[in-house]
Amino acid sequence: MSTRVRWLGHACVLVESDGNNILMDPFLTGNPKAAVKASEVPADFILISHGHGDHVGDAIDIAKRTGATVVANYEISEWLKAQGLEKVHGMQHGGGFGFDFGRLKLTLAFHGSVLPDGTYGGNPAGLHLFLKDGAKIYNAADTGLFGDMKLIGEAGIDLAILPIGDNYTMGPDDALRAVKLLQPKKVLPIHYDTWDLIAQNAAAWAECVKTETAALPVILQPGEWVTVK
Ligand code: NI
Ligand code: MN
Repeated sequence: MSTRVRWLGHACVLVESDGNNILMDPFLTGNPKAAVKASEVPADFILISHGHGDHVGDAIDIAKRTGATVVANYEISEWLKAQGLEKVHGMQHGGGFGFDFGRLKLTLAFHGSVLPDGTYGGNPAGLHLFLKDGAKIYNAADTGLFGDMKLIGEAGIDLAILPIGDNYTMGPDDALRAVKLLQPKKVLPIHYDTWDLIAQNAAAWAECVKTETAALPVILQPGEWVTVK
């Protein structure tokens, strides 16, 4: 019944919890670091943080193949319906809902969210999961640093998933400050090294996290797992 997380490359993360496969930001086709193919990844739920192509990715194809319920902000959920998906669930910032896997709350994120065809995609979100075994995961998704991460951290985070790529999101320095605000038990960096533009030294960042915070940094290669609790 434990919860574990598999990084599938870039911002794509699979959470396996209590028999549920929760796939976040499934950009696999065209992702040079993808660890699996869109045609083989399991999903009972697909969570989309915002409308950009490197996050919506293969969500529609995977949902059609697996029958997964897709959860996103309301604007993206309406767009997904217009693409032919029926099992979609729209939410907004600050709202939570109890799904089969546990509770999901959408949090603030500072970023954009336009959809691949130019449709307005609402506001970008972070994904805050409260799983049935008690594991708590906060995926900041694409965002800059913001002070309210301190509030998010008050829930008690077992695993924080943070971008460190810079340019489009927090870079390593701000991600280190985010760890200090969130105070998670473990932290997994993502959204780096996919392309040269967001190349980072994750090992060096992990050393800073170890030295300056109480969190345990977990550096994965795409395809590798980490146990959340
Ligand atoms: Ni983005
Ligand atoms: Mn992105």
